[in-house]
Amino acid sequence: MKLRSLLFVPADSARKLSKSETVPADALILDLEDSVAPENKAAARKMAGDFLSEHAKDRRKQLWVRINPVIQPAALEDLAGIMHGRPDGIVQPKTRSPDDVLLLGQHLEIFEKDLGFATGSTRILPLSTETPGAIFSLGQYVRCDQRLAGLTWGAEDLGAALGAQTNKDRQGKWTSPFQLARNLCLFAAHAAGVAAIDTIYADFRDPEGLRASCDEARRDGFSGKLAIHPDQVAIINSAFTPSEEDIIQARRIVELFEANPGAAVLSLDGVMLDIPHLKQARNILAMAE
Ligand code: COA
Ligand code: MG
Repeated sequence: MKLRSLLFVPADSARKLSKSETVPADALILDLEDSVAPENKAAARKMAGDFLSEHAKDRRKQLWVRINPVIQPAALEDLAGIMHGRPDGIVQPKTRSPDDVLLLGQHLEIFEKDLGFATGSTRILPLSTETPGAIFSLGQYVRCDQRLAGLTWGAEDLGAALGAQTNKDRQGKWTSPFQLARNLCLFAAHAAGVAAIDTIYADFRDPEGLRASCDEARRDGFSGKLAIHPDQVAIINSAFTPSEEDIIQARRIVELFEANPGAAVLSLDGVMLDIPHLKQARNILAMAE
């Protein structure tokens, strides 16, 4: 299932939960972590659990939940409050390494067995760059099993951990520590064979900036992006959907190779095409499905 846009919805807000039903996001991320104050966590768990149950039969969008960090007792309370609602997956914050993902997987397995769900059916999407140490094990996600749905990254918590004064320069580009985190997340996701999901665009009143950020992400190999506001979703969906032109060109490339079995290099419209071009054309057709 495609995951172009994933909208965070603070799970303690009845108003935002209700609004989220009308938003055409591929996935909602019901948040129990940083957008919920400690005194509201218990209520948010109940609201997220109820929302999942109410939408048990209507899963036009995937329903994910961001729990608290797996090393905190709150994480188990989160899972106890929501797993009965059968979330499609868990967004895992402040993931320090693939070991954290494996640990969460063990917790999920206990709930799945208890509730009669297939083992491994609850996917995991880690925020893979929120702690400084996490950067050093990004190459290891290939050790994770089929629960791993993708990798995404976060700049805000990382910036706070570094004591960075900002994460963007005057032109609005990521400063170099954050570019490094972004790029390593991209490589890590592809090395593990899972989706690379770009981080949020924080200025939700800047559609042009969001569009440019999406275009750069798609250009570089991300296949989707996190969102924080309903207005961001349509822009993200359109940026991560191949255009009609892209699809026609991709089909021409695939058909050309099919018509020339055994050929590893061909030319089309005066341009050299080899196997990486064929792979890229197939990627575009897969994204378009
Ligand atoms: N999910 C669902 N609905 C949302 C929403 C979200 N993330 N953000 C805003 N809305 C709703 C608002 O409730 C409002 O609906 P209403 O007209 O029925 O009241 C409508 O969309 C327009 O919202 P707007 O007034 O433009 O924004 P706001 O000032 O109410 O909220 C934020 C701004 C940033 C606080 C809000 O977008 C938000 O909470 N985002 C998610 C934050 C988050 O989860 N952070 C953690 C991950 S980084
Ligand atoms: Mg955070």
